[in-house]
Amino acid sequence: MGITTSSSLDDLIRAEEARFEARMPRTAAMWARAQQSMPGGVCSSWASSRPLPVWVSHGKGGHVWDVDGNEYVDVHAGYGVNVVGHANPAVVRAVQERVELGTHFAQPTEDAIVVAENLAERFGLPKWRFNNSGSESTMDAFHLMRAITGRPLVVKIEGSYHGHHDAAMVSIFRSLDALGPADDPARVPGPGVPQGMADLVRIVPFNDLAALDRVLTERRGQVAGMILEPMLMNAGIIPPLPGYLEGVRELTRTHGVLLAFDEVKTGLVVHPGGATKLFGVTPDIVCLAKALGGGVPCGAIGGTEEVMGAITDGTYDQIGTFNGNPLTMAAARATLTEVLTPEQYDRAEALGRRMLADSQAALTAHGIPSYGMVHGFKGSVVFSDRPATNYREFLAISTAFSHLHFLVQFNNGVFLPPWGKSESWTLSVAHTSDDGALYAANVERMAAMAAHLVTRASALFADGSFN
Ligand SMILES: Cc1ncc(COP(=O)(O)O)c(C=O)c1O
Repeated sequence: MGITTSSSLDDLIRAEEARFEARMPRTAAMWARAQQSMPGGVCSSWASSRPLPVWVSHGKGGHVWDVDGNEYVDVHAGYGVNVVGHANPAVVRAVQERVELGTHFAQPTEDAIVVAENLAERFGLPKWRFNNSGSESTMDAFHLMRAITGRPLVVKIEGSYHGHHDAAMVSIFRSLDALGPADDPARVPGPGVPQGMADLVRIVPFNDLAALDRVLTERRGQVAGMILEPMLMNAGIIPPLPGYLEGVRELTRTHGVLLAFDEVKTGLVVHPGGATKLFGVTPDIVCLAKALGGGVPCGAIGGTEEVMGAITDGTYDQIGTFNGNPLTMAAARATLTEVLTPEQYDRAEALGRRMLADSQAALTAHGIPSYGMVHGFKGSVVFSDRPATNYREFLAISTAFSHLHFLVQFNNGVFLPPWGKSESWTLSVAHTSDDGALYAANVERMAAMAAHLVTRASALFADGSFN
């Protein structure tokens, strides 16, 4: 069962994009003005989306408003940050109190101790340091693994994104023809990254222990460590197959290489103790960011006594002017100790499960294939009857159909992350069952609109002319 290459899919997208633009004259004007002073008229290239980047005026709880006054249920959540909800009273109070006391000293404040202790308890790793973004967290992980072992190579999962620094910008978001052979994936560097950097990385597919074993065996004595998302998040959520994470842990131990989990997206979101606790496999290093700061820029890296001892003894200087910034630490303390209680994860998961069940019922009724996933505040609906187990399989799913879904949700009051295929929803403590019901009603609306595109003829989805 699949979705045909069809001009009518393009027609639906064009019509929804026209509705999108018609609702946003002030956004269009701001974007035009912004293009005079900012490349692409946005602050980050991934804030650019089709047909327009959305300009936001404010957020409250589970909702945001664009500058044209349209209100949305916000499950974009700033690319998975806002699980506390917008302007959460506990976070607002903590930040306001801290602002009055000064926001930067480059010396530690007491809140940092409380945050480190809380993270140690949640993740089962004893020592923590802070930085300012997910990219800095994974950069620290690459540095630590190389500094401790004195070896050059790091193993990474095909297609996965770990931030925008040189070491990690290899084999991300590539099309099938740029990936190279499945048994020896290409090491394609991102723009501006020299091939020499990419050659310090070895690529393996997610959920493939044999490939990992092969690389670790062939490169014995050269591999410092492996970094992976324990659950692949920028691909509609791909969970680890049973035994995969345990196998990764065992292989990395056997081969004497370090293991880092990139929990920038999953940490504090899928479970109180992240995917680390959800799956019960503890790595040597955990990278956090996004949700930790309750909406304030943040990052953290946690590790075993052995790994973090390399910072203590000066083998690796983990540094940064804004590390442990008092404003971030105050917001993180409120987020961890007052907002993200275990009950909130259960509540969000129950809401997400209802959203998924209602959405899938509507899709099935209209003959549209789907699978989905819910863990804590995260969830996804993917338009395929074959759950992807790695990045190559994920690429076969229709980008165009997911974009149509994003547009229909947006035009009817739900703000999903743009680039719908790779992203998932992020709920917050403030979302209600009405918010979830609107999401499911919009899935039904889109299903009714697109049902005629479904065919039993092809096993895989094919896109319209959309790219
Ligand atoms: C899994 C993962 N790691 C790292 C990053 C980089 O985080 P940041 O954008 O805060 O640098 C991201 C960003 O989306 C991410 O999804």
